[in-house]
Amino acid sequence: MGNIVVIGTQWGDEGKGKIVDLLSEHTDYVIRFQGGNNAGHTMVVNGKEIISHLIPSGIIQQKKCFIGNGVVVDPMVLLEEMNYLIENGINVSPDMLKVSDRAHMIMPYHKHIDMARETKKGKNKIGTTGRGIGPCYEDRATRRGIRFCDLLEPDVFAQKVETILDEKNFYLTKYFNSDPLDPQEVIQQFLDIKERLTPYITDVSVMLHEGIKSDKKLLFEGAQGTHLDIEHGTYPFVTSSSTASGNAACGAGGGPIHLNEIIGIVKAYTTRVGAGPFPTELFDETGETLQQTGSEFGATTGRKRRCGWLDMVMLRHTARLNSLTGLVITKLDVLDDLDEIKICTHYSYKGKDLYDFPASINVLKECEPVYETLPGWKSKTSNLLNFDQLPQIAQDYLARIEQLVEVPIKIVSVGPGREATIIKESVF
Ligand code: GDP
Ligand code: IMO
Ligand code: MG
Repeated sequence: MGNIVVIGTQWGDEGKGKIVDLLSEHTDYVIRFQGGNNAGHTMVVNGKEIISHLIPSGIIQQKKCFIGNGVVVDPMVLLEEMNYLIENGINVSPDMLKVSDRAHMIMPYHKHIDMARETKKGKNKIGTTGRGIGPCYEDRATRRGIRFCDLLEPDVFAQKVETILDEKNFYLTKYFNSDPLDPQEVIQQFLDIKERLTPYITDVSVMLHEGIKSDKKLLFEGAQGTHLDIEHGTYPFVTSSSTASGNAACGAGGGPIHLNEIIGIVKAYTTRVGAGPFPTELFDETGETLQQTGSEFGATTGRKRRCGWLDMVMLRHTARLNSLTGLVITKLDVLDDLDEIKICTHYSYKGKDLYDFPASINVLKECEPVYETLPGWKSKTSNLLNFDQLPQIAQDYLARIEQLVEVPIKIVSVGPGREATIIKESVF
């Protein structure tokens, strides 16, 4: 049994949390490797909903969890989430959770800048989650970021905050007309939480390496989705990290040889929160039905998710970029009552057929989806336990997806709870 990477294949919110929770049962370590608390991963266990933004979803199964160097961490949110999990009876002691000393911290000015930029952009905004993700990754790339290892050296930390705030305050006050931040207040706020966080901060890469040597099974939990990837997504309407499977190695602090199974989570239709092109978006009653039946509201910001049909151009792009070895189809039950279901097989752009996802946003905006229409199965699937029990028409829908993406479906999810899951083929 190898290690597993779970990634989102669309624009996030495919149901990664549910599947990571499920697969965690058979793994030892669960690791987040990119993104931050822009993520919202929902698990429903015994009817109770738990949403995690930062701490790996494996914590619910009480597996050892790691926040890798590639994640940007808001320490205040981390503490809040730890408290929330503790209130829910989950152990998040330093034995259960470790945070990389190389992970960058989201600072108060990152959040201010994120929100001020969005406001200034007006109708051209990206629709970020406002959590400071982009500005934090930006400082990492320009080598001005502040890492957890800095927090362990208070003098170094204070010096860094003072230096960077000199520049950030200029930007905040002169460019955005916002209030400046007081360096001493920021420094104190972080020093106040240093003691509680210190036992969690360590060299995650070393611990994972030790784990691999003693045959521990690793599960890498992706956040967002391939079409929100900074390089491969619908740029600039993307997040600021590499969401691709290859980054699971880099963002956790290991080599790619340890990534064995690459599982892509596919919602049975498509959703998107935030702005940006979405070729198969529905603006009609069917779109409304998907939104309502699927309870499509963002788990982080509560925004209504835009809905549309499944898009094979997107999925083929995802399969190639991530070397997917298996698919998990989620929310099949949401399609139960539809009379017909469409699959976009390719786009038509200025009269030409396009099978590969275009780089240009302007081209994408003008792409017309070309659909194949399949009949709906018009029966309830959420109570089914075996693949063979699925209506033949639903099986045909799934077979068509496999055929078009050229990756086998291993699991089908038919409800938010752990139990509403059909295992077609083992992923281990
Ligand atoms: P993630 O970000 O990929 O973990 O996904 P989210 O948690 O943001 O959104 C997925 C939503 O769909 C959550 O509310 C889940 O509880 C729910 N969900 C997951 N799988 C299924 C499913 O198979 N059927 C239904 N009806 N809901 C599901
Ligand atoms: P999970 O892990 C859906 C979207 C935002 C916005 C864009 C940039 O739950 O699937 P950011 O705050 O990252 O700079 O916002 O990315 N976005 C997500 N959409 N699911 C997510 O995570 C997302 N994380 C970011 O809505 O369009
Ligand atoms: Mg989500």
